[in-house]
Amino acid sequence: MHPMLNTAVKAARRAGSIIGRASLDLGQIKVGLKQQNDFVTEVDRAAEAAIIDTLREVYPSHAILAEESGTTAGEAEYQWIIDPLDGTTNFIHGFPQYAVSIALAHKGVLTHAVVFDPNRNELFTASKGAGAYLNDKRIRVSRNAKLDEALIGTGFPYRMFEHVDTYLAIFKEMTRRSAGVRRPGAASLDLAWVAAGRLDGFWEFGLSPWDMAAGALLILEAGGLVSDLAGEGNYLATGNIVAGTPKVFSQLLQAIQPHRTAALMA
Ligand code: IPD
Ligand code: CA
Ligand code: CA
Repeated sequence: MHPMLNTAVKAARRAGSIIGRASLDLGQIKVGLKQQNDFVTEVDRAAEAAIIDTLREVYPSHAILAEESGTTAGEAEYQWIIDPLDGTTNFIHGFPQYAVSIALAHKGVLTHAVVFDPNRNELFTASKGAGAYLNDKRIRVSRNAKLDEALIGTGFPYRMFEHVDTYLAIFKEMTRRSAGVRRPGAASLDLAWVAAGRLDGFWEFGLSPWDMAAGALLILEAGGLVSDLAGEGNYLATGNIVAGTPKVFSQLLQAIQPHRTAALMA
């Protein structure tokens, strides 16, 4: 394993232990509201601090983009992109679907990725050009080539509702045209599950880079495809993502594109 990935794994496992311990006594946890339906707890903050400490010990000069503490400038070439607890709403409710997500971008290119699911003790890792793994076993996207046989993951709009009608039109079409649509509630894990072949495709609008960075590299290294709504590679910037096995990805993108509005083109 590449030393940078190894450090990221160590950081993700530390965060996972903090989250796992806290999940045993949810009643103790104070929940704060960042904006409508956007929750944060001391667990998110403690997990993020543990990740940043672990990374900084080895790479003190790297830049960081983390959900709770924002941007920390550093050596511009390297940037860690961190979601310490993806799926906070699930976590608060004791709904066991959440994860730690850590990615490293080098000169703007995603190079290492970790998504750690503390509930199942599943560690998803990838390094650019070296494949994707689940607990050290190589993973690949599913062989599914047909949208009508595909299980598709998504994320419902829950905070910003300006594109809700567009979203619902796509949802209606996917409900009709796929084998099923799922909304598990942690985007990083949804993407990791596409990489592992548990889902055949995924789409969501309005995500942040830390929700997607690690999961996107996992999918690419597992032989899948990822894009924004224009079919280009700017999903980290636009927040809109379409992903899947090569064939399901193209059918999903083709189905979504006619629904785009001027405000939601890429
Ligand atoms: C959220 C989860 C969710 C997605 C949201 C994200 P958070 O992350 O990934 O699945 O639908 O858009 O914000 O806030 O729990 O880290
Ligand atoms: Ca998140
Ligand atoms: Ca989060």
